[in-house]
Amino acid sequence: MLTFPDGFLWGAATAAHQIEGNNINSNWWVHEHEAGTNIVEPSGDAMDSYHRYREDMQLLADAGLNTYRFSIEWARIEPERGIVSRAEVDHYRRMVDTAHELGLNPVVTLMHFTVPRWFERDGFWRAKDAADLFARYTELTLPIVGEGVEHVCTINEPNIAAMLAGGEDAANLVAYGLPNPDLFVADALLESHKRSREVLSQVSGLKSGWTIATQAFRSNGEPGSDEMLREYGYPRDDWYLEQSAGDDFLGVQAYTRTFIGPKGPLPVEDGVETTLTGWEFYPPAAAEGVRSAWELSGGVPIMITENGIATSDDTRRIDYTDGALRELHACIQDGIQLEGYLHWSALDNYEWASGFRPTFGLIAVDRETFVRTPKPSLAWLGNVAKANGLTE
Ligand code: NOJ
Repeated sequence: MLTFPDGFLWGAATAAHQIEGNNINSNWWVHEHEAGTNIVEPSGDAMDSYHRYREDMQLLADAGLNTYRFSIEWARIEPERGIVSRAEVDHYRRMVDTAHELGLNPVVTLMHFTVPRWFERDGFWRAKDAADLFARYTELTLPIVGEGVEHVCTINEPNIAAMLAGGEDAANLVAYGLPNPDLFVADALLESHKRSREVLSQVSGLKSGWTIATQAFRSNGEPGSDEMLREYGYPRDDWYLEQSAGDDFLGVQAYTRTFIGPKGPLPVEDGVETTLTGWEFYPPAAAEGVRSAWELSGGVPIMITENGIATSDDTRRIDYTDGALRELHACIQDGIQLEGYLHWSALDNYEWASGFRPTFGLIAVDRETFVRTPKPSLAWLGNVAKANGLTE
């Protein structure tokens, strides 16, 4: 038996905008309805989880998982600048209470890519007061996370957010469409994270951290590619992992690997298995992310806050997860402090610009009726959780 440490968190993750539906005060809702973007469809009702969260959590708990990661939507809490919706604060508090009632540990994210329309309108992460506003929003969430929440993720994937912020400038795009990060925005996100962490430190027993997308960048070995790898990986992953030193925990999110040639990232080679997002099927990604996060952060306790694949073949999802977990177990054997594994995602959901087509869920959702159907992978992961390990 490959046994995981006592108290290991086994769960699944979601993000508000991707599952709730009708997140109409958010900046993403605006962009989804603009002409000429690369967003293939709007989020609409999404999975209607705003109303059906209890059912979602119940399915996870019934399967045997002990943790649920979800996000609070800033645009609901503060729909207009300075105007607070008490009803929405209560809504998210009920979600925390429901998680407890069902035996799930809530892991709560404060900002998962989406922000209120007004925040984007007033300058977004480039506004002078961006970090003040994010700190103030964090204070508004204290009635939600101030009791009974052990882990709060302040900002989801700041490294991806900083790349998206670089978006529009064509000169800012490198080969194969991965934008350069906007370093000004990167600094603003770090500042916002620190201010938020400060607010959260008032709550005793609460651990805060941010969650970083690690991409297992690899040199393809051609002359010049090692240099490119350093130049490429540092502003995209490594810097963020280093900045996590001093946090209570560090969320690692990993899906695939990317080869870097002398000119930048390379497309997946022909004949290599890919998933519905076009990414390489690469189960060791999570462990590689954990190893570099552990080293670069100087030993901050780690949680896998996302890992999974988009596929219509659920047996591949199980194979992928099984492979990922075996490698993660080896990390623990090597002395790395890994506190949990949260699969992305609990449900099939709205995969941003790609719309609803890439299905990452352990649970399928009928988009007409919203009926939930657990996939075999949910029962499989639940059994791993109940056994707290895998058979060798
Ligand atoms: C990372 C993001 O946090 C999440 O929103 C997204 O759906 C998954 N990766 C899959 O791309």
